[in-house]
Amino acid sequence: MGYREVYDSWLADPSGFWLEQARKLEWEREPAIGVDEAAGIYGRWFPDGICNTCHNALDRHVAAGHGERTALIYDSPVTGTKRRFSYAELLHEVKAAALMLTDLGVAAGDRVVVYMPMVPEAVISMLACARVGAIHSVVFGGFAARELAMRIEDAQPRVVLSASCGIEPSRVIPYKPLLDAAIEQSRHKPQACVILKRPEAEAALTPGRDQDWDEAVGRARAALEEGRASPCVPVPATHPLYILYTSGTTGSQKGVLRDHGGHMVALHWSMEAVYGVKPGETFWAASDVGWVVGHSYIVYAPLLAGCATVLYEGKPVGTPDAGAFWRVAAEYGVCVLFTAPTAIRAVRKVDPEAALVKEHDLSRLRALFLAGERADPDTVEWAENSLGVPVIDHWWQTETGFAIAANPLGIEKLPVRRGSPSVPMPGYRIEILDEAGQPVPPGTFGTIAIRLPLPPCALPTLWRSDQRFRDVYLSAYPGYYSTADAGMLTEDGYVWVMGRTDDVINVAGHRLSTGGIEEVLAAHPAVAECAVIGVKDDLKGEIPCGFVVLKSNSAQASQALAREVAALVRERIGAVASLKRLLFVDRLPKTRSGKILRGTMKKIADDESWNMPATIEDPAALSEIETAWKTDV
Ligand code: COA
Ligand code: AMP
Repeated sequence: MGYREVYDSWLADPSGFWLEQARKLEWEREPAIGVDEAAGIYGRWFPDGICNTCHNALDRHVAAGHGERTALIYDSPVTGTKRRFSYAELLHEVKAAALMLTDLGVAAGDRVVVYMPMVPEAVISMLACARVGAIHSVVFGGFAARELAMRIEDAQPRVVLSASCGIEPSRVIPYKPLLDAAIEQSRHKPQACVILKRPEAEAALTPGRDQDWDEAVGRARAALEEGRASPCVPVPATHPLYILYTSGTTGSQKGVLRDHGGHMVALHWSMEAVYGVKPGETFWAASDVGWVVGHSYIVYAPLLAGCATVLYEGKPVGTPDAGAFWRVAAEYGVCVLFTAPTAIRAVRKVDPEAALVKEHDLSRLRALFLAGERADPDTVEWAENSLGVPVIDHWWQTETGFAIAANPLGIEKLPVRRGSPSVPMPGYRIEILDEAGQPVPPGTFGTIAIRLPLPPCALPTLWRSDQRFRDVYLSAYPGYYSTADAGMLTEDGYVWVMGRTDDVINVAGHRLSTGGIEEVLAAHPAVAECAVIGVKDDLKGEIPCGFVVLKSNSAQASQALAREVAALVRERIGAVASLKRLLFVDRLPKTRSGKILRGTMKKIADDESWNMPATIEDPAALSEIETAWKTDV
């Protein structure tokens, strides 16, 4: 069957389509119902199914005789370490970590925060949580203590799993002081923290609360070897597997919830259908376990499919050079590489002629997939020419967990239209709506919406926040999930995703809230008002830029003050927010109703043509922004 037939077969019978995929996995009780549209907020997938994701990711393969196959390849140029785990070895480690969690009192439904760098123990922690039915919440290492505190307070974990440090090429980042500060700031206190001590940094353990990972897992390993069992806990398919916090319009993060059942079914399907990868092959998502790409395509999907997955603790450039991706792909025989366009732009900047590609044997590489931000046609073309394989842009969100639109190589390779992530995947009925919620004709720009119900894997709701889920995603267009992305569908069925309709920006493939950054700037005692916009950047796609109005009786505008205010963002959100540019202005341009004209400010900063909005309160305010922007260096 080609793409059209597969998509139409899903459209004709969504429940039947996904039930057929569900049968390819193992269930404690196989579901007879696909989606129950009367359950949950917009429906629930496989409501009568009972399963365990970890069983399907590990035990199933070992039981089928594939225990010797490679499951996880850890490659860490920042520490000079390489390590392989077979399925049997990874299962053993996960069983030990699961026993450790059980001994700490963790039971099904309890939350466990995982604040770890890109080390095998991060993957082991996630799978161990899944094994015992606990809900993990992984926090990206580039976030500061305050962000970690917000997540601890919201998720209320019984246990936190962490490490002594993360390693960036330029510096070692001690995690333990950040974790201690976060627990101090949070009203919720975990009962226990288990800390992986890495040789690069010490970690002082808090007596009565903290344990050493090696000792705690070591005890569990010994118990396993003495015959203690560490079984997978069967859970309803609708039982939460994880919470992953993501940016929205405000500084308060949204806890995206993921089910066990729907998640494993959709991800398992995607490996072969979207990426064209077979069991036993090596798949590499060069991302971080702290992001959704890492959850789905470093950890769960490749293991569910019986593939080898690569966990790479390094950067596309500088560890040690711009050939790092090609070295790893060649060394492990990677068939499909998945990364963010910004990583390819970083490589291209250093090695524009792709000379380093030629130094490696990439004969097994069949495709490069890109996501996280729009893949600009220039970058796609450069990668196509440099690698000689299809370069596939695909579009998805933390909320969906797998591709909304893609070029499904495993079903049929459709013509690549650079700048478009191709066509809707089964599961998604995409419509483009105008402001009144009416569908627009092909080729017309509008908000991209998805007809409910969403497919398995997509979020059923937000963690402990049904009302916010309705308000943020469902209320704008009844009967639809609003993606907050704008774009169009063309006559040929291709989707074009051009940018967000809310205050979310994408910085180097990392999703950030300008509203959240504004909240931090506004907390500085000298700041009266501020606006943050995402400005085009050749490398990172977008970078945040702040416009600040100082209180009249406060300090004078100066470079030193700009640095001080910007430093607050690094201190409170984290280095990853990269707010490097901050301009002082006398006032912000607003509409007569007081809304800051961020859209027009962005056009000015991006050097695009703009019109004076009819609703502006004082046209001179925009001219001042233009002058401030052009004179700032
Ligand atoms: N822990 C701690 N700090 C981190 C971090 C982590 N896991 N990840 C990034 N940071 C820090 C960086 O060290 C940097 O600090 P600095 O300002 O002191 O230099 C800051 O956060 C900004 O990081 P980043 O935006 O990643 O910029 P960079 O200049 O270090 O690297 C790229 C640029 C393009 C090489 C890098 O962003 C990259 O590889 N991007 C790939 C995107 C990706 O994986 N996206 C995930 C979705 S697919
Ligand atoms: P995240 O939740 O971090 O994955 O970010 C999701 C957002 O990133 C989407 O809503 C889009 O705005 C953007 N995005 C991700 N992939 C693409 C893509 N292929 N094309 C255009 N935008 C994308």
